[in-house]
Amino acid sequence: MKIAVLKETGDHEHRVAATPETVKKLIGMGAEVTIESGAGEGASLPDALFEQAGASIAADPSSTVAGADIILKVRGPENLESLAGAKPGALLIAILNPYGARAEIEALAKAGLTAFAMDFMPRITRAQSMDVLSSQSNLAGYKAVLEAAQEYGRVFPMMMTAAGTVAPARVFIMGVGVAGLQAIATARRLGAIVLATDVRPIAREQVESLGAKFVMVETEESEQAETSGGYAREMSDDYKKKQAELIAETIKKQDIVITTALIPGRPAPVLITDEMVKSMRPGSVIVDLAVEQGGNVTLSKPGQVTVVNGVKIVGHLNLPSRLAADASQFYAKNILNFLALLIDEETKEIKIDWEDEIIQGTALTRDGAVIHPALGGD
Ligand code: NAI
Repeated sequence: MKIAVLKETGDHEHRVAATPETVKKLIGMGAEVTIESGAGEGASLPDALFEQAGASIAADPSSTVAGADIILKVRGPENLESLAGAKPGALLIAILNPYGARAEIEALAKAGLTAFAMDFMPRITRAQSMDVLSSQSNLAGYKAVLEAAQEYGRVFPMMMTAAGTVAPARVFIMGVGVAGLQAIATARRLGAIVLATDVRPIAREQVESLGAKFVMVETEESEQAETSGGYAREMSDDYKKKQAELIAETIKKQDIVITTALIPGRPAPVLITDEMVKSMRPGSVIVDLAVEQGGNVTLSKPGQVTVVNGVKIVGHLNLPSRLAADASQFYAKNILNFLALLIDEETKEIKIDWEDEIIQGTALTRDGAVIHPALGGD
């Protein structure tokens, strides 16, 4: 069984889908591992470390995937032709953005690849160690606070000095899933006063346990805001109006705002309008973590830091990749745990239980067709 690990070619992508540690484990599971030269460079993992772990290094994508049974990537492949040398029906495992990249998923099916989207991992206890959205969002939440601190011309903690006293920064976290909770913890560690909001009432307890204050619009509708999968629903226009009033009132007193609100399969909800930005003090900073899904802030621009009336709006793309070493370590471990489900311990061959909830949740293509129900398959 041959496993190929490709180098990422997308902009802003420095992560890699395997580490020397996971390579050793994969070899122990019966695999031969080939790494494309330079795949780990962005994550401070030179080829030599992979070689020491027992992998072979190939010069380009085609020679990396030649004869591969399993192809590992972080993002979906940019170039399918280079994967042509893989075995027919080879497994491709990556973050595939299935809702946003339907044409690409069709192309994977046509290319005869059996594709698994790590970003469709079901939120069940058994799959927690394979949950890439959690592992990467956690880092994104941490990094968002550091990016904000970098752009902010003041300090986070209260400082009492002989030269005078500065007040602690007021930080508002909007959307308290995995990224938001880590952002709260990070901002608190830096000494800020933290306020947070969400549409799921269950978030209150989690926010308060981290020492932050919670505000939200609580209605009958918000009682049902969480889906069985643990995600938020899109809220009604009436709810959005009430929420906008609360945000407008709250935001003008904040120094830093970090927005993380997402709804699976839908554009990110707009939470901060132009007027709200204009109501903030000059020198305030907003970090829009949802910028790749359309943004929570009307004025955020993907990949840019925009300044409006002295308020900086940070729209950096792919924050986990800015912590590529740790992000790769977590991602590679998520992949390793997923592979343990696909590889038979005794025969050391690929053996997939197509009835398994985790397989059904993540498998997008098989035998030339798109099979996932969320993409119109059956
Ligand atoms: P996400 O990335 O889809 O969304 C981020 C946050 O934005 C969520 O808390 C969501 O409620 C919030 N949000 C959505 N629309 C909003 C709006 N209009 N206004 C304000 N906030 C809004 O969510 P994430 O981080 O993936 O986690 C969602 C939940 O799933 C969390 O409670 C998390 O603890 C839970 N979870 C469960 C796991 C498991 O059981 N295996 C694994 C990972 C997370």
